Amino acid sequence: MLKLPPVRRLSQALLLLVAALASGCASGDHQSIFDTKGPVAAEQLDVTMVTLWVSVGIFVVVGSALVYAVVRFRAPSDLNPESPLPPQTHGNAFLEMVLTATAVGLLVIIAVPTLRTIFKLDRLPTAQGGEQPLIVTVRGYQWWFSFTYENTAKKVVTANELRIPTGKPVILRLESSDVIHSFWVPKLAGKVDMIPNQHNQMWLQAEEQGYYLGQCAEYCGTSHANMRFRVVTMYPDEFNRWITHQDQPAVEPPAGSLAAQGKEIFIKGPKNGQACSSCHAIKGTDAAGVVGPNLTHVASRLTLAAGILDNSDADLKRWLHDPEGVKPGNRMAGMALPPLKLSDDEVNALAAYLETLK
Ligand code: CUA
Repeated sequence: MLKLPPVRRLSQALLLLVAALASGCASGDHQSIFDTKGPVAAEQLDVTMVTLWVSVGIFVVVGSALVYAVVRFRAPSDLNPESPLPPQTHGNAFLEMVLTATAVGLLVIIAVPTLRTIFKLDRLPTAQGGEQPLIVTVRGYQWWFSFTYENTAKKVVTANELRIPTGKPVILRLESSDVIHSFWVPKLAGKVDMIPNQHNQMWLQAEEQGYYLGQCAEYCGTSHANMRFRVVTMYPDEFNRWITHQDQPAVEPPAGSLAAQGKEIFIKGPKNGQACSSCHAIKGTDAAGVVGPNLTHVASRLTLAAGILDNSDADLKRWLHDPEGVKPGNRMAGMALPPLKLSDDEVNALAAYLETLK
């Protein structure tokens, strides 16, 4: 084993600790809990700050007492080797009572706002002015998210991109298809686990238009770190138009075009491998698979492969060529029998087709 002098080892450990803390706090970051953009995250941040300041207070008081004791009561240089210990005392009832009462007091200061916030946020929002909150079922898969809009004018299914209207509460029903995942959009709300055969619920609301990064926050297998998503917020009118559009069946590629060849491959399968349609659905075609993301309007999304690739021609082709290299362990690479190995021509045709699915 590598032997380091203790001071160097200690400074390395401190450096690591500082780096770990700093990476969690960067406020300009897209995933900061300190830069809240909605009421749920804001209330949770308030509780966090109470706990943080109480902890900082304890750290300062205890740390100062420790430093004082170490300096003030260090062994004198003329220590008598015959009796090396100072006079020993035991117990101080007054001091012990004060310390116990202080600890209880600090816990109460933390517990009151924490419990109040837990119970408050646990109550799901109800109708405002006759309008029901939006309800979306979020389902976790290894390694992507599906979003089903339950009470919009049209029932719509998308993947890896949760679009919601600004200024409106959204209730999320959290489910899982395989293992435990966890749904987390740091700027909008704290994380809630997605557990197979259990129905967890949470709600969030976004005040500003924009997009917020989210991710799976529970280790769920090989590509856990590649399980991301985005929350995209839109003005309510824009959101309603988006729902109407998402409900439309996919456009039909012109006969004889490269995209039409791509559609053929998608539905019937490439030369070596299973048909894309056995896992993916595209509304308006024979593709009705439910194992993978619904691709009816895949070209209208911002990213591919659960938020890890840009939705660009180059990245789409990279994904089709080498799914295992992009997202290790994913089912497109591993479950298809034999493993998906598309030729350049097949990739070009498939990409041409998928890019028409606006
Ligand atoms: Cu899903 Cu980690």
